[in-house]
Amino acid sequence: MANNDRTKGIKDLRPAYHQEGAEEAQRERACIERIKNRPDRPRTYFVATMGCQMNARDSEKLTGILESIGARPVAEEEADIVIYNTCCVRENAEQRVYGRLGYLKSFKQKRPGMKIVLCGCMMQENTVIEKLKKSYPQVDLIFGTYNIYKFPELMEAMLDSPDQIIDLWQEQKDIVEDLPSIRKYPFKASVNIMYGCNNFCTYCIVPYVRGRERSREPENIVAEIEALVKSGVKEVQLLGQNVNSYGRGLDHPITFAQLLEKVNAIEGLERIRFISSHPKDLSQELIDAMGRLDKVCPQFHLPLQSGSDRLLRLMNRHYTKDQYLDEVRRLKEAVPGVSITTDIIVGFPTETRADFEETLDVVRKVRFDGAFTFIYSPRVGTPAASMQQVPPEESKKNFQELLDVLEEIGTENMKKWKGQTVSVLAEEVSKNDSRMLSGRTVENHLVHFTAPQCLIGQTVDVVIDQTTAFYMIGHLRDEVAE
Ligand code: SAH
Ligand code: SF4
Ligand code: F3S
Repeated sequence: MANNDRTKGIKDLRPAYHQEGAEEAQRERACIERIKNRPDRPRTYFVATMGCQMNARDSEKLTGILESIGARPVAEEEADIVIYNTCCVRENAEQRVYGRLGYLKSFKQKRPGMKIVLCGCMMQENTVIEKLKKSYPQVDLIFGTYNIYKFPELMEAMLDSPDQIIDLWQEQKDIVEDLPSIRKYPFKASVNIMYGCNNFCTYCIVPYVRGRERSREPENIVAEIEALVKSGVKEVQLLGQNVNSYGRGLDHPITFAQLLEKVNAIEGLERIRFISSHPKDLSQELIDAMGRLDKVCPQFHLPLQSGSDRLLRLMNRHYTKDQYLDEVRRLKEAVPGVSITTDIIVGFPTETRADFEETLDVVRKVRFDGAFTFIYSPRVGTPAASMQQVPPEESKKNFQELLDVLEEIGTENMKKWKGQTVSVLAEEVSKNDSRMLSGRTVENHLVHFTAPQCLIGQTVDVVIDQTTAFYMIGHLRDEVAE
């Protein structure tokens, strides 16, 4: 990583992570100060997060910068600056962006001062940029995934110029952290531990739009989490496209299990989660660490994609159905009661009914606690897009069947919690009932329970009264004095 050489030997009393791209961060902070003093600065903002947790983490950085210039959040239609942080993992995510740009056009016509900004993964696709340049002049600023930290400078350029500004990089130059960032909850936070992906699964566009794998230095990650804990964070989620290969490219390579060990030692931290794990790199060392480290939640997201060995080969996944099942067996052995969730793609090129039944077989054997399911969506430039596609009606039928089986298993799995007392981190007022709070168990199950709002941010014991496939309902075990 480019960040540390120039600071070697210099004693720096700031947390280590300040050294990650320190000069760049300083330049951007100076720019924030300049914008703050401009009369034409945006006073209100709207940021739409359209993708995964990495995308959401990037939105926290954008929001942090906007708050630092003194802007406040409002509804999309009223905002001085509207940002779509885009995703391109599937076609429908892209269609949504074009649809919303069309919708915004009339608002911008009425209020020409409104600024429209696009960033995120979709902007790293050349075909998208061509289309935007040609048909969407209402967009004021476009940038990508590698230069998100440049947002203050780009915003300044946008305010200075009436032209559409496009700044896209083809690779990451520096890892720049330590810019302002706003998180949704004061008590839980996501932390990037690595960027990019080297795996090139044949269906997936992520390696093309997020670049090669780059790990952050463990000291920087630990320093960042320590600072978060000091500010009240109890739960962290470590983010990477494949955390199991964390640390490989570092000057002093370390494994993900060793990183977990260091994070587990941080005093005051209560819960550690992480996503995502590629089955091809799941080590026994990590499985053992899961069993041993008390703050690491008994929850594991292990994307299966397909149960068919033939399809797994075509997908370039580098494991077989049996290897996957064996990993799950070892996880369940090492971490009793572990909750296992997954990602599954239905309708990958050439998928037959027999292939799909192999997937169903794994679902029934593992008895997943949850799954993100997707119908295959061809992505331009990926190898699978030019493979033999399957009829959509077939995929839709199989997809529905998969959902039904998953729900049936989820319902059964959750029944065991009825009557049990579980530890819940209370996160927010329940969306459907203001007398209830919603929170998560260590297994990441959603629980709604009757409780006063003063408990938000606390870890409380909840007795479960009712369960469904997707959530549980309960009440506080102990009375609370209000
Ligand atoms: N790096 C993560 C996944 C990121 S994308 C991992 O490997 O676990 C999240 C999920 O989207 C993938 O696991 C996959 O199930 C799904 N996905 C990716 N590309 C897709 C495509 N072209 N069509 C449908 N689903 C896709
Ligand atoms: Fe995509 Fe595969 Fe990388 Fe996950 S591991 S981001 S599915 S290429
Ligand atoms: Fe995430 Fe979508 Fe990009 S899933 S990495 S925001 S393509």
